[in-house]
Amino acid sequence: MSEWLTVAMPKGRIFEEAADLLRKAGYALPAEFDDSRKLIVDAPDAKMRFILAKPMDVPTYVEHGVADVGVAGKDTMLEEERDVYEVLDLKISECYLAVAGLPTYEKQSEIAPKVASKYPNVAIRYFKEQGEQVEVIKLNGSIELAPLVGLADRIVDIVSTGRTLKENGLVELEKIMDITSRLIVNPVSYRMKDEWIDDLVERLAKVIEGEDE
Ligand code: PRP
Repeated sequence: MSEWLTVAMPKGRIFEEAADLLRKAGYALPAEFDDSRKLIVDAPDAKMRFILAKPMDVPTYVEHGVADVGVAGKDTMLEEERDVYEVLDLKISECYLAVAGLPTYEKQSEIAPKVASKYPNVAIRYFKEQGEQVEVIKLNGSIELAPLVGLADRIVDIVSTGRTLKENGLVELEKIMDITSRLIVNPVSYRMKDEWIDDLVERLAKVIEGEDE
């Protein structure tokens, strides 16, 4: 295949696992990939160009077609609802979405109790399904702070090791759903570069299957 593939990668904790998966699938990624502060990194041997974005922005780059494919958490996909194909569960960065709060939290008859989250859409949908009307306060990070300072009674956030909740004296109240990272694809790229993308999916799927055994 002569054409290149542009891949949107999430900076931060998913990055390392995603890069590891690509290397195991046989793509030669340059060493500078791992510690550089560059936002665009080319891997000429693999015929791939990587754009390094904030995790929540990966689906945006893919939807607009400036990246052909991307690695995005299911949490981000549920929050952003972008027009992209989700083609493969990469089974990396396993964590889950949960409702948490202070151990003393008790459901009160307040009309719209406050819930803080980086995922306002997910939170609104979840509580609606539960038949509870809440006011969602959008925060951009360190969500666990909200109940500690009285900004909200509860939070909807990602739990990975559970350490952040524990160290801040919070408890999980309800688990919402398991989360892993997904390979997402721009619909037009899937038509134009179908051979490239099918090969990528096949190679990644093989590595994932091997790791499941
Ligand atoms: C995430 C999440 C929790 C924490 C959970 O935040 O929002 O705060 O990790 O991980 P743990 O269960 O292993 O403690 P992240 O570190 O991505 O940063 P943020 O608070 O800025 O969103």
